[in-house]
Parts: sequence; structure tokens; C-alpha cells
Amino acid sequence: MGVAEPFRWVPLEELRTRSSVKWRRYPPDVLPLWVAEMDVRLAPPIASALIDAVERSDTGYPMGTEYAEALDEFARKRWGWEGVVAQRTMVVPDVMQGTAEILKIVTGIGDQVIVNSPVYPPFYAFVEHMGRGIVEAPLGEDHRLDLAGIQAAFEAATAHGRRAAYLLCSPHNPTGTVHTADELAAVAALARAYRVRVIADEIHAPLVLPGAVHVPYLSVPGAENGFSMMSASKAWNLAGLKAAVAVAGPDAAEDLARIPEEVSHGPSHFGVLSHTAALRGGVDWLDSLLAALDDNRRLLGELIAEHLPAVRLRPPQATFLSWLDCRALGIPEGSIAPADRGNVLLSSGPADVFLERGRVALVAGLLFGTGGAGHVRLNYATSPEVITEAVRRMAAALSD
Ligand SMILES: Cc1ncc(COP(=O)(O)O)c(C=O)c1O
Repeated sequence: MGVAEPFRWVPLEELRTRSSVKWRRYPPDVLPLWVAEMDVRLAPPIASALIDAVERSDTGYPMGTEYAEALDEFARKRWGWEGVVAQRTMVVPDVMQGTAEILKIVTGIGDQVIVNSPVYPPFYAFVEHMGRGIVEAPLGEDHRLDLAGIQAAFEAATAHGRRAAYLLCSPHNPTGTVHTADELAAVAALARAYRVRVIADEIHAPLVLPGAVHVPYLSVPGAENGFSMMSASKAWNLAGLKAAVAVAGPDAAEDLARIPEEVSHGPSHFGVLSHTAALRGGVDWLDSLLAALDDNRRLLGELIAEHLPAVRLRPPQATFLSWLDCRALGIPEGSIAPADRGNVLLSSGPADVFLERGRVALVAGLLFGTGGAGHVRLNYATSPEVITEAVRRMAAALSD
């Protein structure tokens, strides 16, 4: 691997030598388009930072605020937002662990957490594991936030004076919806009215594609007592290098400060180093990735229209994930016990047919909660060749 190489998709033979879950979960005849890992080579500035640290045996514990400072610089340039103030941030092991710690501060056992289904399955798993309940406020058929549904969910969750939190996925996984400033301001107003604390998971924010603009939740009026979870891990493919930043709005800083000090022992030094290098030196790489993802998004749409005409795809505005509506295929879903909803390895319905008959691994829509049945999530952060072959196999799986 040359650190000076520009962005390009990694060929399949080389990907098969990887030992991460994407490449180890299924046998080699399966094309894995399931978990949110990308088939990219590491951005050169990140590789250099890691290689340099290894060469100097700089392998100890992390320290300092560089990650938050790099995020601040990135957020100013990318989104014109000045809200990442180092004193109101905390480096946490990853987005979900950080979210769990904030939930512990702003809710108690037995309280409710609102989510917009269909949504990233670990939202269910983490919330339920912590003894909190889930109240779903499903997205509309257009994949957008349903404000009346959110209001009803806030009302139900806060009945009897209970505390509640809203786990907002922005941009939204799996639909790739980018929420607008007006939608987010309306959410903030509702959250204030019902005293619901908002945690915006903005891990996909750098992955907004041409045609849409990310609005940081904490930048909208009324969001001052909210939190944002940010990380370079999705956009630069750093899931193996654990770190994320929790950002508190001005009125949430005291709550963030109540997270115990030992939580800051979780992120790894290599995580912090690599995420910082990504945000500082990986912006050109990110822009070339986004151009390639935009091409893939178009290609996927064309291939599905041609080979899988019964499958509906609303082009994602962000992320490298696409949400395929396979309901017209009439494939029955199995059932998944609530306790298994966070297990992205389970297969059911259309995902099962595409895996067993097409040898393409996708994520079963049922795992994403209400509104997920009959859908599959396909990861298109791979070469056009792999996307083309996957759609060919999926079509063949249906025609046998
Ligand atoms: C919306 C969302 N949040 C969190 C995560 C996981 O992030 P982390 O590994 O930092 O917990 C993912 C991973 O795909 C995700 O899509």
C-alpha cells in the first residue's frame, strides 16, 4: 500500500484478504454489501499519521483536545458552524458508547427513548440493553420526519412527568435522508415544549452527497440543550480505530461534564490520531469519495430500474447506504424477537432470498423496526463492478 495513492476502490481479490467483519462473516462466494464498511484504501494522510506513530512506537494512551479542534475546523469550513467548542466536548470510545453515556445522564431506567423507524438497528439494542424503552415515531413514506408523529411520541414518552430522550439520526441511516433546517428547528421546538433531550447522531454528516446540505442539529434555534455525536469513522472508514466526539450545546455542557472521567479511557490513541488526521488532511480525499459515491448512486438507480423494476429506490441524499423497497416482490418476512432486533447478522424476507439464492449479503429491513419489513439495506461504497455484479445476482435470485 503506497501512502501517496489517490482515492480508488479496492479490487475484490484484495478485499477478500481483509479480516474485518464485512469480509469474514460470509463465505467467499458471497458479495458482502451489508455492514457499513467501505471498500476504500485508507486516505493517505491517515495512513501516514498511523505509520508515523508506529515507527515512533507512539502507542500509549490518548491525551488532549486535538480531535475536537480538528472537528471544529472541519465544521466551520464544511458547514459554516462554530458550535464545536472544545470545552463543551468529550472524546468517547465511539458514537454508540457515547450515546449510551449521555442517555444515562439525561434519562433513568424505565424512561423512554424516541427513534424514527426504520432506523439503525443498534439504536434499539443499546437503548433496550440500558433498561430504557423505545417509542417509535416512524418516518413518512417519503422518508422524511413526521412532525405530528414525533409530537405524539414525545407526548407518550413524557406522560406522567417522565424524562425522555430523542435519538435523532442525522443524516438518517438507512434511508439517507438529510433533514432540513426547518425540520430540525421544528424538532427543537417540540423537544423544548415536551422537555425531551435530543441526541443527534451525526456520524454520517460528512457523507452528504451533491444536491443536499447538512445542517448540524446544534446550529438550529432552540437546540441549545441538545447533544451531537460526531466521528470521522464512517466517512473515512475508521471503525477499527475507535474514537468519537460528543458535543454539547451551550445549555447541555453541565450534563456532558457529568459523564464520569473513566469513559474517556475508552477511545484509543490510534483512533484519536487517525480521526484527527482525517478531519485535518483528508478533506480532498473525502471530496473524491463523495464524487465516486454520487456516481455509484446513479449507477445503482439505473441498474435497479433495468434489472429489478419491482424494487423501488428513492435515491439517498447522504451516506453510502441505500434502502431498497422490495415489498412488491411479495416475499414473506420471518419474525424477529425484540431482543434480536439489534443483531444485524439475522436474515429474513427479501434479504434471505438475495443471500441464499443470489449470494449477496444485505441487511434485512425487519431489523430496522416499524416500516422496515419488505426492505433491504445495500451498501454501495464499493466498485461499480461489484455493484453491477450484485444487482445481476439479485435479479437472477428472483428469476430462477
Ligand atoms: C447512525 C450510526 N450511528 C452509529 C454507528 C456506529 O458508530 P460507532 O462505531 O462510532 O459506534 C453507525 C455505523 O454504521 C451508524 O450508521
